[in-house]
Amino acid sequence: MKIGGLELENNLMLAPLAGMSDVGFRAVCASQGAAITFSEMLSAQAMKHDSKKTADMTVTNPDEKIKFAQIFGHEAQVMAQAASSPLLADFDGIDINMGCPAPKVVKNGDGSALLKNLSLAGEIISAVKNATKKPVSVKVRLGFQNENIAQIVRACQEGGADFITVHGRTREQGYAGKVNLEAIALAKSVATVPIVGNGDVVDLQSFQNMLATNVDGVMIGRGALGRPWIFSELLGRECRNKFDLILRHVQILREHYPEKWLVLYLRKHFLSYAAAFKAGGEAKRRLAISPSIDESLEILKEQFNHFEIF
Ligand SMILES: Cc1cc2nc3c(=O)[nH]c(=O)nc-3n(C[C@H](O)[C@H](O)[C@H](O)COP(=O)(O)O)c2cc1C
Repeated sequence: MKIGGLELENNLMLAPLAGMSDVGFRAVCASQGAAITFSEMLSAQAMKHDSKKTADMTVTNPDEKIKFAQIFGHEAQVMAQAASSPLLADFDGIDINMGCPAPKVVKNGDGSALLKNLSLAGEIISAVKNATKKPVSVKVRLGFQNENIAQIVRACQEGGADFITVHGRTREQGYAGKVNLEAIALAKSVATVPIVGNGDVVDLQSFQNMLATNVDGVMIGRGALGRPWIFSELLGRECRNKFDLILRHVQILREHYPEKWLVLYLRKHFLSYAAAFKAGGEAKRRLAISPSIDESLEILKEQFNHFEIF
C-alpha cells in the first residue's frame, strides 16, 4: 500500500485506542511490524486551548515507522488548526475520527455523529487537507443508525481523504455482534482510494477473512492489546523476546511520564499482558493492586515463565 509519498512496509496497522495506544505501546507494535501506528484520539478543541493532557499524548518514538495523529472535533476550522499544530509536527499523517460511538463524544457532534452529516464531514476533511501537506485519512464506521457505507466512502473521497479505515460496525452496534465483512467489501468496491479494514482481527484466520474482502490494509486494535507480537505472527515471523517487549513498553513510558501516574496508567496494559500469558485470578488480583511498576513486572515475569514452560 502506498499513501501519498509514503511507501508502507506491509499492510498492517495499529488502531487508535484511547487510553491504550500510548507512545510505548505504539513503538513495540511498530517493532513487531505495524507499518502505521495511530495516536489516541486527540481533541481539536483541547489543542486549541493548549491542554497539557492532550500535549502529553503527542509524544512519538523513533521506533514508530509511519505515525498518524488522530484528531476529533466537528468544527472545520478548529480541526484544520489542530492538523497544522506544531504539536503534531513529528507525525507523518493526520487521521480524522468519524467512528467514536461514546455518548459524550457523539453529544458534541464529534466522532461517529459526523456520519449523520456527510456534507459537514466532507467540509472537515477538505479543511484539514488544505491545512496540511501530510496525508489525511478518515476512520469511519458503517453508518450511524443504519449502514450507508457507500455514501460515507464517497463523501470522504470527495473531501480529499487519502485513505479510509472502515470499522465494520455501525455506531448503533457499538462493539456488539460480529464485524460485517460484506459491508467492508462493499466499501472497497466503491472506493477510489485505499480502504483499510478493521474489526475483530485477532489471529491468522480472522486476518485472512479480512484480506478476503480485498481491502488494501488491515488495522488491529483489541487483538494487539497484551499481544503486540500479533503483528509478527501475522507476518509469519517468530517473536522470541515477548517479555522484552513489555520491558521496552515500560521503559519508553518512563522516559516521558511520572512514575506515580504510570503505576495507575499501566495497570490496564499489565492486565492485558497477564491475560495473554493466561495468568490466573490470583496474579491478576495482585496486579490490580500492585503499588509499583517493578513489582508488577515481577508478577508478570512469573506468569510469563510459567506460560512459556507449559
Ligand atoms: C479501549 C479502546 C479505545 C479506542 N479508542 C479509539 C480512538 O481513540 N479512536 C478511534 O478511532 N477508535 C478507537 N477505538 C476503536 C478501535 O480503533 C477499533 O476501531 C475497534 O476496536 C475495532 O477494531 P478491533 O476489533 O481490532 O479492536 C477504541 C477501541 C477500544 C477497545
